Amino acid sequence: MNKRADLGSDLEQSAFWMPFTANRQFKKAPRLLARAEGMYYWTPEGRQVLDGTAGLWCVNAGHCRPKIVEAVKRQVAEMDFAPTFQMGHPIAFEFAERLARIAPPGFSRVFFTNSGSESVDTALKVALAYHRARGEAQRFRLIGRERGYHGVNFGGMAVGGLASNKKMFGPGVAGVDHIRHTHDLARNSFSKGQPAYGAEFAEELERLGTLHDPSTIAALIVEPVAGSAGVLVPPKGYLELLREICTRHGILLIFDEVITGFGRLGQPFASQRFDVMPDLFTTAKGLTNGTVPMGAVFVRDSLYQAFMQGPDSIELFHGYTYSGHPVACAAGIGTLDTYEDEGLLTRAASLEKYWEDAAHSLKGARHVIDIRNCGLIAAIELEPRAGAPGKRAYEAFVAAFESGVLIRVTGDIIALSPPLIVEKPQIDRLFQGIRDALEAVS
Ligand SMILES: Cc1ncc(COP(=O)(O)O)c(C=O)c1O
Repeated sequence: MNKRADLGSDLEQSAFWMPFTANRQFKKAPRLLARAEGMYYWTPEGRQVLDGTAGLWCVNAGHCRPKIVEAVKRQVAEMDFAPTFQMGHPIAFEFAERLARIAPPGFSRVFFTNSGSESVDTALKVALAYHRARGEAQRFRLIGRERGYHGVNFGGMAVGGLASNKKMFGPGVAGVDHIRHTHDLARNSFSKGQPAYGAEFAEELERLGTLHDPSTIAALIVEPVAGSAGVLVPPKGYLELLREICTRHGILLIFDEVITGFGRLGQPFASQRFDVMPDLFTTAKGLTNGTVPMGAVFVRDSLYQAFMQGPDSIELFHGYTYSGHPVACAAGIGTLDTYEDEGLLTRAASLEKYWEDAAHSLKGARHVIDIRNCGLIAAIELEPRAGAPGKRAYEAFVAAFESGVLIRVTGDIIALSPPLIVEKPQIDRLFQGIRDALEAVS
């Protein structure tokens, strides 16, 4: 047992203010992870835990993969940091080229950030600046969607559609509105893959255009499959209709692919899975397999070219000290090598049917009121306990963890997204673990 194993007893006064965590509750009964490899974590006491969530939707290639570990080690010893403001280093250019090669045709430009939240705020700023560069500065409105999650910075928080994430933080960004979410349990419960009903929810964008005048709208941002708010799969025809309305009114369409990018849906990106192309898309998480924090925004060539006009000076006054950080780029290249060696950017497609059947085998299990899935994502929605929303799912999460299975809960929804290296027996174990956990909670 290493020294960290003893930490549990004195966490109550710990200096670590934990993010998105009930700190007092957690510190009284901590759940710690000390080591990881492949599909598994180990607790400090050495208990193995199957990772049903790819860490936090990010470890798509599984944990501690050799090519990534080696690339990071090599880079940190060779050059730890170098700036990218009016300077450059080869590995950042190399990584951008590699990314452009796997992106859908026409997306050959990449702006580096350090997280999903920064990718979102970067994409929103690029959208606003693009219109201005083209003489359409009146396009200042940003439209998001109810139940959307776009990170926690001010732009992403504003276009996000989760009241709990906004209510403490004042009025936020001006000129933001939202279309409705697509969740429709009455018509679509227990849908396998894309639900049949709800394409017409996209017409909401037309309604907001009429309300505000479409020529004032800069961009619409949506997750192709909403993840953090409980896995909302787009109804058939919905994304196509959003694309059509955006094109009709000159509104940029931003896909937030922080979760759906890098093979999660059986194609490198969700745009390819659904055959609907945005104008920009955001990524993070699977970009470096979660190894080093990094994000990237992909933009259409035509957007990039709109900035490359006029005097030869800084075209976009935006960037982060760590944009294109060499160690993150090394992790990213090691990640792409691993994805490519093992076919991971499309592997989910071959497992999707098995995964779907395994998920839907929980229909009829205790407390379950809906199951939905797409690619290697699934959600199991539970009947909330009267007067205590979220409590039942939280208890199921704790029970599953204690039995050796890591799941994620958001409200009363269990959300699953294993590493893309998952094998069928591990899928069976994951859903059996959830079934047992559901039996264990009242
Ligand atoms: C769709 C989406 N956008 C943005 C973010 C924010 O990413 P980060 O936590 O890296 O800032 C997330 C995180 O889960 C996400 O799911």
